[in-house]
Amino acid sequence: MADTATAHRRSRSTPVLEADNVLKLYNDDDPSKEVVRAVEHASFRIERNEFVSLLGPSGCGKTTLLHIFAGLTNQTEGRVLYQGEPIERPSTDRAVVFQHFNLFPWRTTLSNVAFGLEMTGHPKADRKERAAKYIEMVGLKGFEESYPRELSGGMQQRVGLARALAVDPTVLLMDEPFGALDAQTRQVMQTELLRIWEQDRKTILFVTHDIEEALLLSDRILVMGNDPSNVRREVDVPFDRPRYGHDIEEQAEFIRLRRDIWNTMQNEPRNKTA
Ligand SMILES: Nc1ncnc2c1ncn2[C@@H]1O[C@H](COP(=O)(O)OP(=O)(O)O)[C@@H](O)[C@H]1O
Ligand SMILES: [Mg+2]
Repeated sequence: MADTATAHRRSRSTPVLEADNVLKLYNDDDPSKEVVRAVEHASFRIERNEFVSLLGPSGCGKTTLLHIFAGLTNQTEGRVLYQGEPIERPSTDRAVVFQHFNLFPWRTTLSNVAFGLEMTGHPKADRKERAAKYIEMVGLKGFEESYPRELSGGMQQRVGLARALAVDPTVLLMDEPFGALDAQTRQVMQTELLRIWEQDRKTILFVTHDIEEALLLSDRILVMGNDPSNVRREVDVPFDRPRYGHDIEEQAEFIRLRRDIWNTMQNEPRNKTA
């Protein structure tokens, strides 16, 4: 009886993503190089439909953790789970948006967005229609036949976002997706992401080193530190949604939280390798 109740509770609370005491070393198989402890004792969970930011200084292991969740690299020790199952390889359930867009330069917008659909075996006619829908969603209607070199950075990242959304993943893994954009474009893209997310709440793990960006976008912030590289603190972000168009950056609570998180990050050692 008690076992059934426990099992039921456990199944109801299976997180979408879970890191349990994750250790990731680089160069541990190469005696000529110094071993890098990229992630140490990292443990956290992300629930369905949550927008969670992984916030921390450069070199604290954010990209490494995101790549482990994406199945692009393996942890050295510990467990990394997607819906309770170990992550062993990439899957379209977990789509990645990269900082440097990673578009195919020889493919048009339409064909870049359709790429994931080709991989998942969507029929050709359906691919085009579906890609067009997501291109419109990210505001690129009219640019279907453009090549990445003909698009600005902001537009290229819109293509990256449409490509990730088109496969209808359960989780979006976003690695400083607006980090390579100028301040104004970045703000526009943050608003766009909020608008899109508030229509269709995917589970998002969003990597950033920008406190304001994390506060503006997320439900919860995991504040990471260096040495050891893991989560120091979790912050629940209290602002109501929809948030875009509400100037939440000017609210006293936003300013207080920004200062508070900044203080946490100031008490951290600098990047071990920089
Ligand atoms: N392929 C690699 N080989 C060796 N060291 C690496 C590799 N990738 C990352 N690192 C190191 O691991 C640490 C964490 O890197 P990373 O995950 O990229 O951090 P972040 O994304 O937070 O800037 C850094 O010290 C970085 O130099
Ligand atoms: Mg990084």
